[in-house]
This record gives sequence, C-alpha cells and structure tokens, in this order.
Amino acid sequence: MHIAVVGTGYVGLVTGTCFSEFGVDVTCVDIDQSKIDLLNSGGIPIYEPGLDALIAKNVKEGRLTFTTDMKSAIGKSLVIFIAVGTPPLPDGSADLSYIESVAGCIARHMNGYKVIVNKSTVPVGTGQWVKGIVQKNQAEQHRFSVVSNPEFLREGSAIEDFLRPDRVVIGAEDPEAVAIMKDLYAPLYLIETPIVITNIESAELIKYASNAFLAAKISFINEIAQICDRVHADVHHVAKGMGLDRRIGSKFLHPGPGFGGSCFPKDTHAIVDVAKKAGYDFKIVRSAIAVNAQQRQTAFDKIQAAAGDLAGKTVAVLGLSFKPNTDDMRDAPSVDIIRMIQKNGGLVKAYDPVAMDNAGALMEAVTFCHDTYETAKDADALVFMTEWNQFRNLDLDRLKKIMKQPVIVDLRNIYDRGKLEKMGFTYTAVGR
Ligand SMILES: NC(=O)c1ccc[n+]([C@@H]2O[C@H](COP(=O)([O-])OP(=O)(O)OC[C@H]3O[C@@H](n4cnc5c(N)ncnc54)[C@H](O)[C@@H]3O)[C@@H](O)[C@H]2O)c1
Repeated sequence: MHIAVVGTGYVGLVTGTCFSEFGVDVTCVDIDQSKIDLLNSGGIPIYEPGLDALIAKNVKEGRLTFTTDMKSAIGKSLVIFIAVGTPPLPDGSADLSYIESVAGCIARHMNGYKVIVNKSTVPVGTGQWVKGIVQKNQAEQHRFSVVSNPEFLREGSAIEDFLRPDRVVIGAEDPEAVAIMKDLYAPLYLIETPIVITNIESAELIKYASNAFLAAKISFINEIAQICDRVHADVHHVAKGMGLDRRIGSKFLHPGPGFGGSCFPKDTHAIVDVAKKAGYDFKIVRSAIAVNAQQRQTAFDKIQAAAGDLAGKTVAVLGLSFKPNTDDMRDAPSVDIIRMIQKNGGLVKAYDPVAMDNAGALMEAVTFCHDTYETAKDADALVFMTEWNQFRNLDLDRLKKIMKQPVIVDLRNIYDRGKLEKMGFTYTAVGR
C-alpha cells in the first residue's frame, strides 16, 4: 500500500516513519521547503529519541520519501493522513485553517478513491466539515471516505508509543474505509493492540476527552501538593498511596510547575470551546486550566521566597522544554516563569540539553550556557524546571562551591530534602 502523510512535524514525521517501518510505502509532504530539504539531506527537524535512525533505515530501504509536491503524493496514495497543526486561536478554539487548506488540496488532486484520515487533534464535527470541503473542491468526481484516527503518542517516547500503542481509534462511516485502516494497522494486531472502531464524532471526542482527563489529573495532584505544602504532608507519599489503587493509577500524579507542551494547554481550551458551542459549560476542565495557570505563579512565588528580593539576583534554570526528551518549547512553563523572574528584576542563566535553540526564539535576555555547572556558577538560586535524567545525579558539593548562595528550588521534586539540607542547601520543593 502507498500512503501520504501531510504535515511533517512531530506527529506526521513519526507517523510516516513508523508506517514505513511496518512495510508501507510512505510519502511525507510538507509546505515547508527547508524542512523537506533538511530531511532529504539526511537531517531531522525535531529532537525525538531514535527517530533519526528509523528514518535513515526506511529511506535507505526505499519506503520513505519526503516532498513538497502534494499532487504526486496524493496521486499515488490510497490513504492520505492529515497531520498538520491545529493551534489555538485567541478565543481558545482550534485554528482549522491548515486542515482546510490540505483538504482543499487533496480534493483538487484526487485521481481515484481515497481514504482521507484526520490524525490532527480536531474539534468534534471536523470530519464532516472536511467531507464538505472535499466534495466542494473536487476537480474530478471520485469516491472518498473521511476517517478520524487521532494520535496519542507522547513526545520523547513517540516511536515506542506509535509502534506499541495502548489502543488505536478509528472513527469512520463506511466499512470499506475501516477495512483499509485495519489493514494499515495490521502489524499491531499481532501484538493484540485494542482497536476501537466508532463513528467519526466519537473518535474526535476520544482524543480531546483523553487529554482533558490527563490534564485534570495533573491539576488535581498540583492542588493536592498545594494542600501538602500547608499541612506538613508529602505529596509523593500521597500520590503513591493514591496511585496504587488501580482505579486511579500512578501515572500523571507528579506535581510540578503545571502542564505545558503543544497539546494539553490547547486541547483543554478547545474541548471547553467544543462544549460551549454545544451548549454545555465544562466546569472540571475550566478549573483544570485555571489551576494550571495558578501553578506557574506558585512556582515563581517559591523561587522568589527562596531567593529573596530578585532585583539584581541571578537565577540559574536547568531544563527549558516542557518535559524531558523533547526540544518542544510550545507553552513550556519555563517561558512564563522566566518572564516573571525577569519582570521582578532577576537575571536568568539557563541550560537545556536540546531545547535552547527553540527557547532562544521565545525568550529575551537569557544567558544560555553549555552545561549545568556553567549555569549554576555565581547563581543566587538554582531552579530545576525540567526533569532531564542528567540533572538527577549532580555533583552537589561542586554546585555548592560555585553558587553564590546554596539555594535550590526543585520544581520537579527530583532531589531529597534531607540530603540537601544536611549539606547546607536551602531546599524548596513542590508539596513536600
Ligand atoms: N506533538 C504531539 O505530541 C502531538 C500528539 C498527538 C496529537 N498531536 C496533534 O497532531 C497535530 C500536529 O501536531 P504536531 O505537533 O506534529 O505539529 P507541528 O507544528 O510539529 O507540525 C505541523 C506540520 O504541518 C506542516 N503544514 C502546515 N500546513 C501544511 C500544508 N498545507 N501542507 C503541508 N504541510 C503543512 C507544517 O509546516 C509543520 O511541519 C496537531 O493537531 C496536534 O494537536 C500532537
């Protein structure tokens, strides 16, 4: 089978590469010529562990190609995945202009029956809307099916998530499209991956509902951490005690500076908007969003309380990406928290293993350093912003010697309070 994946970002590139790994012929398409040139010259536009090797292997074996030529990609493909961005508009709703443009383009270049699959995260009703756009813009009349196949991969472990997902969701109206999609995902049957077959609207809602639920779980534990801070309880023990209950589960019970990234912030706003347009006020998700904003402020308050008046002080920030193992800076808590430090007169030095190029475009007057110790040198406070593994086992004696004040604000709870306090650090954590 030959397929096209339109949009070669975090989702499209992983999707295209992994399907080629399944043995499918894949053309990845993007409008960004520089991205396609980079991929064609053996480079890779994002940081995702293991992706470079998998791309190289499948390119070499002739199953994976990159182009900006939509017409030829559509012409030779039975299935066309749409994996373009759906960023938030100022009112919180999803910007569907990229989807609209791709749908129109597919319609104009169709040369036979096509299965048009929405992999982007989209509001309920988008599948039917795409159907209308294709019908209206077809240059020649051809049959087609629209499918919703939302993606659940996590940046940082995207390949593993794609090749061994918890489930695959297929929302479709006709059995022919379902059969083709099942065929495409056939390698996952061998590892008994559950496949949820439903209508388009339910599939679209499954994605938003899943992300909103996980975001609410993070906000929930962040509120528990707020209570822990006030009642002398340890949020890690509370989370462990809760998480061992299988109805609750231990995942997503880690307090911190709040959720960020390209999905949870925009998808929570988008599902609130979907609900509002359907005449319903989604109160739990609205609260999860409000708690998340408050958590960034709380993180800053902790830094200020630990370092004292920030005017003229140097704050060293370790980790900038919204989570480890990615260079994605979209809606990273670090951006807001660093801005608050600077607004209060603080100077910021920062280090991140892979996200500094992307961070540079979003931050001003930050001194980017080459490693942890250069960052910590002469700092009045050291903040653990992202829990990269390499920050978990630092030379604490060395840190203490090079810092101006031995003040640590551990927004990810990666260090042990007892040990640090015994060494003479002033240690602040979240909910402990
Ligand atoms: N990033 C994630 O972890 C993740 C996980 C699950 C779902 N999603 C969803 O998947 C979708 C894509 O997210 P992403 O993070 O991969 O976005 P991204 O911004 O990394 O990539 C989008 C790509 O689409 C390209 N594009 C835009 N318009 C185009 C057009 N008309 N033709 C061809 N290419 C075009 C852009 O140049 C870009 O390379 C979003 O809806 C997102 O919510 C993302």
